[in-house]
Amino acid sequence: MKIYQVAILGFGVVGSGVYRIIKENHDDLKHREGVHLHTKRVLVRSLKPQYFDVAPEELFTTNFYNILNDDDVSIVIECMGGVEPARTFILKALKAGKTVVTSNKEVISKHWYEFEKIAKQSGAGLYYEATVGGGIPILRTVTDSMQANNISRVLGVINGTTNYILTKMAEEGKTYEETLIEAQKLGYAEADPTADVEGYDATYKLSILASMAFHAHLPVPTIYREGITGLSAMDFQTAKQLGYTIKLLAIGKKQGNSIEVRVHPTMISKDHPLCGARGVFNAVFLTGSAVDDIMLYGRGAGAMPTASAVVSDVIYACHRDGRHRYMTFVNHEQMSDQIELVSNFSSGYCLRILVTDSTGVLSKITQVFAQHNVSLSTVLQTQATDGEASIVMVTHGAMEMDMKAAVEGIKVLDCVKSVLSVIRVEE
Ligand code: HSE
Repeated sequence: MKIYQVAILGFGVVGSGVYRIIKENHDDLKHREGVHLHTKRVLVRSLKPQYFDVAPEELFTTNFYNILNDDDVSIVIECMGGVEPARTFILKALKAGKTVVTSNKEVISKHWYEFEKIAKQSGAGLYYEATVGGGIPILRTVTDSMQANNISRVLGVINGTTNYILTKMAEEGKTYEETLIEAQKLGYAEADPTADVEGYDATYKLSILASMAFHAHLPVPTIYREGITGLSAMDFQTAKQLGYTIKLLAIGKKQGNSIEVRVHPTMISKDHPLCGARGVFNAVFLTGSAVDDIMLYGRGAGAMPTASAVVSDVIYACHRDGRHRYMTFVNHEQMSDQIELVSNFSSGYCLRILVTDSTGVLSKITQVFAQHNVSLSTVLQTQATDGEASIVMVTHGAMEMDMKAAVEGIKVLDCVKSVLSVIRVEE
């Protein structure tokens, strides 16, 4: 049986998890998969004594060239995160004909096109199941189990940190600020939480997922993005009153050659299967032309779930035996000019508006909506104190540009003190 010698770049949460699975499941993988894996080298920035409790000291190196120049190493597993030096190491490994497996969503989403170009030239494999949804086998489901379908929609809860924060805000009525501090104490949120709470992490993942689902490269800048930092406890109370909850949804829709891709806080019905993804859990809901709706659910981060996806890629690469699979689309840096990117998409909207509590206010506001072709489905007056009232309005599907114009029109009405929030609603 051929022995596949692998090298792991990075020995943090994911890298050490990969090492453990390869070691602990070695005999099972040999027996069940016919794949004999052996970790030959581990690249770290500096040698730390605690590493040697997990793996023998002689495995570790601080010099990438000890891996690149080792002809025995045929698979390089990148678990460093971030763009550099990961990008340089991946390019060099691919150029040398080594298959690369990575869990690094940022580097894949930003440099996919150049990695794939080099991989195709050298015949190396390039696999990244762990980049979207951690342990959830979502990319392979799209590429290897849904080929018979045209996928028209992906809806994802694909960031665990924000999902933890939003779940706490919804279920415990806490503010964004106090929930973020709690998430940081538990190690779910980073000291600098920007990448998660501003939605960047979800855009990296949606870029990869939607490109694969829709067979067209959708680079990160094509994705509309809004984070969760502006959400208030009142938004969650309103959502609850209306039978919704708020999720940071990654949304992709395709109709013909028109594609929309966006990440923003979204109200969805409490009965939607995606609402079952609470706390740090992730879920992806797909609609295929033949299979209809499916949903995959699981842990989107953590050592063992992410390592599960990484090792699955390694085994998949071994089974390809040099006949590697690449994307179904032409993977250029820019989006193909055959695709129309939809920025004026249709959505429902929920608005909270602070108004003077006087006669005719509702009629003035509804007139503005009508002028901009926005139709209302629900109107609630939630508070009336000191001559002010808070009005909640939910629209039917409306065009984003019409809605923006309507909001501007409402803001300048004398009876309107302020538009407190505008949150999109996915039906
Ligand atoms: N920061 C990511 C999350 C980790 O919160 O989901 C997994 O990509």
